[in-house]
Amino acid sequence: MTATIINGKQVSDEIRGSLANEVKELSNKGVVPGLAVVLVGEDPASQVYVRNKEKACHDLGYYSEVHRLSETTTQEELLTLVDKLNHQDNINGILVQLPLPGHIEEKAVINAISVEKDVDGFHPINVGNLVIGDDSLLPCTPSGVIELIKRAGIEMSGKHAVVIGRSNIVGKPVSLLLQRENATVTMCHSRTANMAEIARQGDILVVAIGRANFIDASYVKPGAVVIDVGMNRLPNGKLAGDVDFESVKEVSGPITPVPGGVGPMTITMLMQNTLIAAKRHHK
Ligand code: GUN
Repeated sequence: MTATIINGKQVSDEIRGSLANEVKELSNKGVVPGLAVVLVGEDPASQVYVRNKEKACHDLGYYSEVHRLSETTTQEELLTLVDKLNHQDNINGILVQLPLPGHIEEKAVINAISVEKDVDGFHPINVGNLVIGDDSLLPCTPSGVIELIKRAGIEMSGKHAVVIGRSNIVGKPVSLLLQRENATVTMCHSRTANMAEIARQGDILVVAIGRANFIDASYVKPGAVVIDVGMNRLPNGKLAGDVDFESVKEVSGPITPVPGGVGPMTITMLMQNTLIAAKRHHK
């Protein structure tokens, strides 16, 4: 049996289409969503991500600022810029690209971003609101995962979801969002014993462990939905997910590829968060 492939690019394009319509309506009221992206240093992967964010803003008609700062920028200089952006009326979302150089404390920078402009959803107040189920800006990759599952027509309520990986950026928040959708959630991580046995109980498997092709068919219940959040660069330069797609698709139900699965959703959800922040600001 070969599984249905969940096309993240197509879903992402659909959502961007609706965002573009909303932007048009807002522009009639003189409102233009604005996103500021800050990049410190010259990490090649970060440069690509930042360019893609800039392009998405341009394509959707957002106002965009990209601040490319040198590797030697001090924490104080970065915090001064964040403070300026916090007070800038044409900026609704602020994203400081991670990782930051070692001499800058990421936590200090994340905490300095205004809660209302934290379109990454990384500020502790937004994280706290996510935990207690209050309104907040949701982290982009986890909300992209949920949106992909929903738009593929897959019911989460009452299902057993197994999340592999417990990072603050993906594993933890995605488990909370799955619970919000009334799934029963089990979390696995690097110290989990009998991981394959536990994973095989999942009707929905979300994998975010950062190890190329780690999950093979022995981890997957026949027919289970498999969402691969992994983005691993192989020595040959190719991108690989955390799931061994070729073997897993023979047993799974709907499955996301890498690239073209979760990846395109992340920036789309960032654009959605920026629009939400702009609408809240102008309410
Ligand atoms: N670096 C890799 N992923 C992300 C992300 O989602 N947000 C930020 N700010 N930096 C990242």
